[in-house]
Amino acid sequence: MTVPDSPHDPVMVREVIGFLGGRGTVVDMTLGAGGHAEALLSAGVGRLVGVDRDPTALAVAGERLAIFGERFHPVRARFSEIDEEVVDGPVDGVLFDLGVSSMQLDRSERGFSYREDGPLDMRMGDTGPTAADLVNELPEKELADLIFEYGQETKSRRIAAAIVRARSRAPIVGTDELAGIVVSAVGRRPGGPHPARRTFQALRIAVNREIEELAASLPQAVDLLAPGGRVVVLAYHSLEDRVVKQTFRDDARLSVLTKKPLQPSRTEIASNHVAAHRQRQAMSFVPPFTQVENFVQPHRLVEQLPLMNKQTCIARAIFNCVDYLVEGHHGKLKIGIEDAKRQEGTC
Ligand SMILES: C[S@@+](CC[C@H](N)C(=O)[O-])C[C@H]1O[C@@H](n2cnc3c(N)ncnc32)[C@H](O)[C@@H]1O
Repeated sequence: MTVPDSPHDPVMVREVIGFLGGRGTVVDMTLGAGGHAEALLSAGVGRLVGVDRDPTALAVAGERLAIFGERFHPVRARFSEIDEEVVDGPVDGVLFDLGVSSMQLDRSERGFSYREDGPLDMRMGDTGPTAADLVNELPEKELADLIFEYGQETKSRRIAAAIVRARSRAPIVGTDELAGIVVSAVGRRPGGPHPARRTFQALRIAVNREIEELAASLPQAVDLLAPGGRVVVLAYHSLEDRVVKQTFRDDARLSVLTKKPLQPSRTEIASNHVAAHRQRQAMSFVPPFTQVENFVQPHRLVEQLPLMNKQTCIARAIFNCVDYLVEGHHGKLKIGIEDAKRQEGTC
C-alpha cells in the first residue's frame, strides 16, 4: 500500500512533541496515518507502540514508519484492549488523538461522509454492526435518542421519524440516501452547515462505541504509566471532553500539566484544514493530579473569514455563538464572542 500524499494532517504536533518528545516508550493509541508517530519518533522517542483498530491505517502508517525499524511496533486492536502485556511493560507517555482520520472520512467506500455516496458502513475496524444496521433496525425512539445524544441534534425526533418512514419502503443502504432523508426531514439553511452532519456524527460515534471505548481506556492508560509518565489527549467534542475531564478529575494519581487547554495556533488553523474544521483541545496529565479547565473553541469560523464581507462575518459569528448555546456550551459563549471579535479585524 502506498502512503497517500496527505493522508491526515496531524494536529498540534509541536505541542504533542513538547509533552512527549524524547521519552523512552510512548503508546500512540490512535495511530491513524502515523503523522504524530512519525513526529514523535523523529523527536527522539525511543520506542513507539502504534495502536489502531483500522487495518488500512496500520498498513499506511507501517509503510510510512518503516524507516524507524524496530523502534516502531504496530498493534491492531481497540485501545480499550491495551494493557501492559501488549505494550511490554510500563511506558513514559500515552497519546490519544480522538475521532476519525481524514483518510477514513475521505474514502467514500468507508461510508463516513455525507458529501459523497458510499455504503452506510462507518466502522473504523471491520467487525460489528454498521451504520446501516443501526438505521434499519433500531426502534424509532432509540434512534432519536442516539441522534440527540451523540449528535446533539435538536431535530432528532423528526429525523428518526423520517428514517423509519423511509425504511418501511426499503432498507436504507447508502450515505447519499440517508443524507437526503435528513434534508427532506429538516430542510436546508442557505449557507448553513449540512443538515445531516450531526446525524452522521451520531451514527459514527454509536457504531464505533467511541465514548464507551474512551471511558474504558483512559484509566487503563494511566495504569500503563511509569512514574512521571504522561497522558496527552486531543479531544474534539464535548462528549469526549466530559469523559476525559471526569476520568482524570477522579484519578488521584494524576496532576494536570496545562493550566488552560491548549489550542492550535492561528498559523496552524490557517494551514491545516483538520485543525480548522474541528473543535479541539489538548490536555496532558501527569501523576499526581490537580484540576483542569478546558473549553472548545469554534474554529470553523476562522477558516471562513477571509472570504466574507464584514456583515456576513458578524452574522456568522452570531450564528456560531447561537449554535454553541444549542450545543450546550453556555459557559463558552463569551469565548466564542471574543474570538469572533478578534476575527472581525481580518474581515
Ligand atoms: C484522528 S485519527 C489519528 C490520526 C493520527 N494521529 C495521525 O497523525 O495520522 C484517529 C485514529 O484512531 C483510530 N481509532 C479511533 N478509535 C479507536 C479505538 N477505540 N481503538 C483503536 N483505534 C481507534 C481510528 O481508526 C483513526 O485511525
